Amino acid sequence: MAKLNFGGVEENVVTREEFPLSKAQQVLKNETVAVIGYGVQGPGQALNQKDNGINVIVGQRKNSKTWDKAIRDGFVPGETLFEIEEALERGTIICYLLSDAAQIALWPTVKKHLTPGKALYFSHGFGITFNEQTGIIPPKDVDVFLVAPKGSGTSLRRMFLQGRGLNSSYAIFQDATGNAFDRVVALGIAVGSGYLFETDFRKEVYSDLTGERGTLMGAIQGIFAAQYEVLRSKGHTPSEAFNETVEELTQSLMPLVAENGMDWMYGNCSTTAQRGALDWWKKFRDATLPVFNDLYESVASGKESQRSIDSNSQADYREKLEVELKELRESELWQAGKTVRSLRPENQKSAVVSEGSSSTKEVFRKQTLKGEKIG
Ligand SMILES: NC(=O)c1ccc[n+]([C@@H]2O[C@H](COP(=O)([O-])OP(=O)(O)OC[C@H]3O[C@@H](n4cnc5c(N)ncnc54)[C@H](OP(=O)(O)O)[C@@H]3O)[C@@H](O)[C@H]2O)c1
Repeated sequence: MAKLNFGGVEENVVTREEFPLSKAQQVLKNETVAVIGYGVQGPGQALNQKDNGINVIVGQRKNSKTWDKAIRDGFVPGETLFEIEEALERGTIICYLLSDAAQIALWPTVKKHLTPGKALYFSHGFGITFNEQTGIIPPKDVDVFLVAPKGSGTSLRRMFLQGRGLNSSYAIFQDATGNAFDRVVALGIAVGSGYLFETDFRKEVYSDLTGERGTLMGAIQGIFAAQYEVLRSKGHTPSEAFNETVEELTQSLMPLVAENGMDWMYGNCSTTAQRGALDWWKKFRDATLPVFNDLYESVASGKESQRSIDSNSQADYREKLEVELKELRESELWQAGKTVRSLRPENQKSAVVSEGSSSTKEVFRKQTLKGEKIG
């Protein structure tokens, strides 16, 4: 395992150079990896493992669109695709990739099939860390570990097909066989990770829940909404407010930040932007710091996980969710965004725009989202 310096702090990292695919194949050669669930992570992880020469089967409930998708992706009923319980029986490594709520519901069935020496694999620390809420307490004689790709299952697959790799964290909760490290790292490489960094179950779930409620989704939507509202209330048009709040960020700045870092961005913008951004970032940090502290506390106390379990296990969960999503979708901010996106030249290629045609929004209506679930 390599020790790498991250801004002055040394961390354990496993790279593909030191743990190549050939080693992963060797470690997993006598294993049957059962991927339980074929939602978002399931397809990415199962297909990448299959293409990497790992003996992988899928466990998915029948008579669902997801079962059909697994068939379309090349899994064969009775050979590599089974009902969940049969896959649990056949698998020596159980990749538990149902939704977090479904993991709780199916746990008694899974537990039954965790015979000594098998391994239980997660892609999230949720079920184990909040076991008082989830009831997921594995038997002592199985390995328990996680590989958590830091992104969607869709990206994991796409990047694999492009010869790239998404980075993942890994953690070992229980090493019953003495082989947990080799098994988890081999799986991490086989599912298509670019490299793996070490964590534990608790830290994985705390940082993950904080991140998605914070800068990855919750905080950023909140900041977009606040700035957009101010610009609109001061008389700016929706297109101007959207361009200055979202479009410039996603189209121009973030790709550069991804490549070179925000420090580079600060060094390579106009002097006016630079002066203002240097003056204002600490005010935003100080204003949001108490909110981030509240958020972390809410995660660490189990409040967030309980809320997620309670709401996701209600029978009318999807209907209630749809009401909230509709509100966001129909907000002026994101409706303006839809029009702005449709005006990007790459989205106009196939459109025939005639003079005096109806609204741009209508002309390009069909060209926007493809409806792919990315998770
Ligand atoms: N989404 C991501 O990209 C992502 C990223 C990193 C980590 N993770 C973690 O990976 C794990 C899987 O997440 P995911 O987003 O891939 O899950 P998901 O898409 O929400 O999971 C859907 C799967 O669960 C099955 N399922 C749902 N309810 C069920 C039930 N009551 N009985 C049997 N099967 C049921 C679905 O089958 P049907 O289609 O038949 O309902 C489908 O196979 C989670 O622990 C998650 O936190 C996810």
